[in-house]
Amino acid sequence: MTKPLPVIDMRSDTVTRPTPQMRAAMASAEVGDDVYGDDPTVNLLQEKAAALFGKEAALFVPSGTMGNAIAIKAQTVHGDEILLDAEAHSMVYELGLPGAICGVLTRSFRSERGVPDAESIPDCIHTESLHNPGTRLIVLENTHNRAGGAVVPLEVHREVRRIALEHGVKVHIDGARILNAAVATGTNPAAYAAEADTLTFCLSKGLGCPVGSVLVGSLEFIDKARRVRKMLGGGLRQAGVLAAAGIYALDNHIQRLADDHRNTATLAQLLADQPGIQPDSVTPATNMIYVTTSRPAEQVYSELEQEFGVLSNTTALHRMRFVLHLDVSSQDTIRAAEAIKTVCAR
Ligand SMILES: Cc1ncc(COP(=O)(O)O)c(C=O)c1O
Repeated sequence: MTKPLPVIDMRSDTVTRPTPQMRAAMASAEVGDDVYGDDPTVNLLQEKAAALFGKEAALFVPSGTMGNAIAIKAQTVHGDEILLDAEAHSMVYELGLPGAICGVLTRSFRSERGVPDAESIPDCIHTESLHNPGTRLIVLENTHNRAGGAVVPLEVHREVRRIALEHGVKVHIDGARILNAAVATGTNPAAYAAEADTLTFCLSKGLGCPVGSVLVGSLEFIDKARRVRKMLGGGLRQAGVLAAAGIYALDNHIQRLADDHRNTATLAQLLADQPGIQPDSVTPATNMIYVTTSRPAEQVYSELEQEFGVLSNTTALHRMRFVLHLDVSSQDTIRAAEAIKTVCAR
């Protein structure tokens, strides 16, 4: 019997496993009780994150979803309105948390492949009145997951921020993959954060950590956020073992995101003009590609998994997503492309 090929897992960049060096950093982390503020490794991660994004303070949180929940809850009151893209992660994949957890109404502005049309925003903003809830917060997602890892340009952030300030509205960036945007465009991460009151970024995605996200903002906001985190059950104790992975990733895994972007571009080029498959873009912006398949996506998905050990995600009847990350090498990318071409052409 031939030995099965190793699995190439392109379902998401959340599937990355900590490297031996990251595990070593975790194993030797100094720890304390972080709910008491006593964990030196968590404190160091928070200082590093705040410095990277040019904000006063930061808070380590268990997940991107909780980071977004805290940002919304700490900057609104029940009955307020928030604006976000109709295809935003918080809108589609977080089980209705703006309504369910934060008690806010959501409205959407116009956008084109994940990039907000800033001109449409002023019309969406409600001033509080006897009839209207007040619009309190705009949430922008960068990179944009459902738009295939699209980068929201810095100029768009600036324009949205300008409009928000004019109307007394706060801005939160769901920057789960903002470091992919920063690396892809050569932008300082602090330049994005400067256009927002608060920002969440994820350690557990392309940066390769097993757990965790970080919320950044003003000292006043982070004080409030710490209370909301506790309320949501996100107060962690000896979390330094997790924060150590985050520190290792910030020191070693940011610039290598460019490798994932290169592999993603290679995959898109290898899939271009092939029968039975149409990538959304042959020049993907960051580390993911959505494709349209002629055959049912579920069938393509299961043949890829069973025959070739290539894991992916189906997102609609004829739509699939492939995400590149530090556990997918350039050789894996070429092997996966061959498998995808074979299965899609059947
Ligand atoms: C854009 C975006 N925001 C937030 C999240 C939520 O992150 P988590 O899975 O850590 O809760 C994700 C997860 O993939 C995401 O893609």
